[in-house]
Amino acid sequence: MITCLFGSSRNNGNSKMILDYLLYGTDHQVINLYDTNIEKVIDNRHSDVDSMHLHHDDYSKVLKNVMDADTIIFSTPLYWYSMSASLKLFIDRWTESLREEHRNNFKEEMSKKRYIVMIVGGDNPIIKSQPLIDQFKYIFEFMNITDYSFLIGEGEAPSDVLKDEDVIKKVKALNLDLRGMSKNV
Ligand SMILES: Cc1cc2nc3c(=O)[nH]c(=O)nc-3n(C[C@H](O)[C@H](O)[C@H](O)COP(=O)(O)O)c2cc1C
Repeated sequence: MITCLFGSSRNNGNSKMILDYLLYGTDHQVINLYDTNIEKVIDNRHSDVDSMHLHHDDYSKVLKNVMDADTIIFSTPLYWYSMSASLKLFIDRWTESLREEHRNNFKEEMSKKRYIVMIVGGDNPIIKSQPLIDQFKYIFEFMNITDYSFLIGEGEAPSDVLKDEDVIKKVKALNLDLRGMSKNV
């Protein structure tokens, strides 16, 4: 099963359009991070405070959907040469999860999954999303995640990305791969 964490603030934008191509015919669920409340991380690494009851938000629910899946898609527009803040809030909270005893083998379980990062930007994203790609590579390295790939689309206004023939070709090929995977389960 595929879980997609959708980080765009537009539900009819470029990210959604290529995501629909990618997920067509697959066994998936999409979590729109704009509809969730994920609180900011609290850095308790160097204190005795247990973070288990510090938050009253949707993080655990979203994380469960991630843990239940074998393939994770992070879909984000390029916002100021980075991922959207809603997706970053989720990833920041891993710092707490890494230390929480009730999150059994968090790092090990996360490392077993396949990850696809989908980025759409308006201004030459192949070049200008490179810092974000490097950021994800460091995140994956830290988490011992080795099975990952990137899809980068170009588009500013909604539907622009449909003119990016290269990314559409790649998304369709990846969709066939994901559909094959869904059948094998
Ligand atoms: C807050 C904000 C910041 C943005 N920053 C960038 C940027 O740094 N680089 C870029 O190429 N496009 C940037 N854009 C443009 C979006 O990445 C582009 O319009 C993209 O298609 C939006 O994805 P969506 O259609 O899925 O919402 C920004 C847009 C917003 C709203």
